[in-house]
Amino acid sequence: MANILIVYYSRKGENYWNGSLKTIAKGNTERVAEFIQRAVGGDLFEVDTVKPYSASYMTCIEEAKQELRAKARPEIKAFPEDLDKYDTIFVGYPNWWGTMPMCMFTLLERCDLSGKTILPFCTNEGSGLGSSERDLKALCKGATVLPGLSIHGAEAEQSEQKAAAWAKKSI
Ligand SMILES: Cc1cc2nc3c(=O)[nH]c(=O)nc-3n(C[C@H](O)[C@H](O)[C@H](O)COP(=O)(O)O)c2cc1C
Repeated sequence: MANILIVYYSRKGENYWNGSLKTIAKGNTERVAEFIQRAVGGDLFEVDTVKPYSASYMTCIEEAKQELRAKARPEIKAFPEDLDKYDTIFVGYPNWWGTMPMCMFTLLERCDLSGKTILPFCTNEGSGLGSSERDLKALCKGATVLPGLSIHGAEAEQSEQKAAAWAKKSI
């Protein structure tokens, strides 16, 4: 049985859903992370930034664009411990401007994931995984990055079967 860690970033607050703004108490990616845990077990680890992104969707869009342009590495509150004990790591994130939020780059750049199997999952409003799989391969040197799962954010709540099936067949 694989030793599984599910690490994810997910933003609560105002979000864009099928063409309109809506405030959500639980992020889309967080929902999928929980479905994966329910299907295959493992430990959940939520990435959180020291400086929160704006709760306003439009402001956050701008913040994220600037971070991407600047190749920023925003500080995160904590890193997962005892990575040695895991061999399979699900990495979840929303698609922000075509890739992962920069805080995931902060995390992955600082963790040695060599020898591990990485399973990306990404919620988005239509751009799929974007360049995130390629970026993950560059960041996680020595790890095996397997094909990821894309979930439409607005359908995250209804995605349990899809997420569970993908997670089970991937491990
Ligand atoms: C800053 C920002 C940038 C985004 N950029 C994209 C994008 O380039 N392509 C896309 O399909 N969706 C984009 N979205 C939509 C999110 O990927 C989508 O709503 C996702 O499900 C949010 O997940 P979360 O609730 O876990 O944070 C963006 C959202 C934000 C806040």
